[in-house]
Amino acid sequence: MNKVSVIGSGNVGATTVNYLAEKKTADLVLVDIIEGMPIGKSLDFVQSGPIRRYDVEIVGSNDFASIRDSDVVVVTAGLPRKPGMTREDLLIKNASIIERVSEEVATYAPNCVMIIVTNPLDVMCYVALKVSGFALKKVVGMAGILDSTRFCYFIAEELGVHPLDVTALVLGGHGDQMVPLPRYTVVSGIPITELLSEETIESLVERTRKGGAEIVNLLKTGSAFYAPAASVSEMVEAVIRDTKRILPCSAYLRGEYGLEDVFVGVPAKLGKDGVESVIELSLSKKEREALEASALTVRKNIEIWEAARRSAKAGVKG
Ligand SMILES: NC(=O)c1ccc[n+]([C@@H]2O[C@H](COP(=O)([O-])OP(=O)(O)OC[C@H]3O[C@@H](n4cnc5c(N)ncnc54)[C@H](O)[C@@H]3O)[C@@H](O)[C@H]2O)c1
Repeated sequence: MNKVSVIGSGNVGATTVNYLAEKKTADLVLVDIIEGMPIGKSLDFVQSGPIRRYDVEIVGSNDFASIRDSDVVVVTAGLPRKPGMTREDLLIKNASIIERVSEEVATYAPNCVMIIVTNPLDVMCYVALKVSGFALKKVVGMAGILDSTRFCYFIAEELGVHPLDVTALVLGGHGDQMVPLPRYTVVSGIPITELLSEETIESLVERTRKGGAEIVNLLKTGSAFYAPAASVSEMVEAVIRDTKRILPCSAYLRGEYGLEDVFVGVPAKLGKDGVESVIELSLSKKEREALEASALTVRKNIEIWEAARRSAKAGVKG
């Protein structure tokens, strides 16, 4: 049986375990720093097993050693947004959590594929890659599937069609500068540009960009987790079952789309080794500029993290 560990057993982490257990994807481990909490949740899960008809092993722990030899490690550890906060507000605090978690993952599961969820997503992927020392394809971030499913839902609602018939593509960083691509978004093969006016598409694009904040404001505490966890599960399945699905994910770029040394949302082929390839689409000038602007914001945030890390190291030495 394959082994999937989920670090951070809060809303997104525990819901991911729920979905993966129901699909019998792998044996599962929940880890959190809150004493006892992941153990309590794992007991709750195994007690649901006979009713929900799953019998995968589910273990909770406060000890990172329990992730030993995992095939996939999902990282959801960190703080979620509060109303009025941007994902970037979380940067420094969550980066220090991801640094610590990445060291533990590199120690106990050096051959795993790491799927990062913690925000600000694209920067946290970069932190995990640099701190773990993993191969470039072994670190990948979840955002594009979530942003795309939100866009699909809004389009289906607007057209009064079944959401399953809508396939959408959203690229770019997971932030207000994400880049939904109407040209590559279809309803049963028909581009939405044939079905909706430019103004309507623009308003749906805008609602997708703010889709996370809309939920944060309604929840008052915490952020969305059912659709995020469903999106993570899709990626875990692709890796564990080596399906080679093409999914929009945050991947490390080495010149693709003219972008270097940055994680950003692009269509990627996912298999047992992680990101097996990045698919380069032909983009219009406007789309390319939007992707570049989004990547530039991610790069600036990477530089903020690198500066904070340098001064923390200098402080330790001093
Ligand atoms: N990429 C996306 O599209 C997306 C979507 C939703 C949420 N998120 C992000 O995912 C993260 C988790 O969201 P959530 O709603 O599950 O939050 P949550 O507060 O419910 O859960 C986070 C958990 O992480 C744990 N944790 C903190 N530090 C840890 C450490 N060092 N080791 C292990 N566990 C640790 C906390 O104790 C908590 O239980 C947030 O940063 C959120 O912004 C990203």
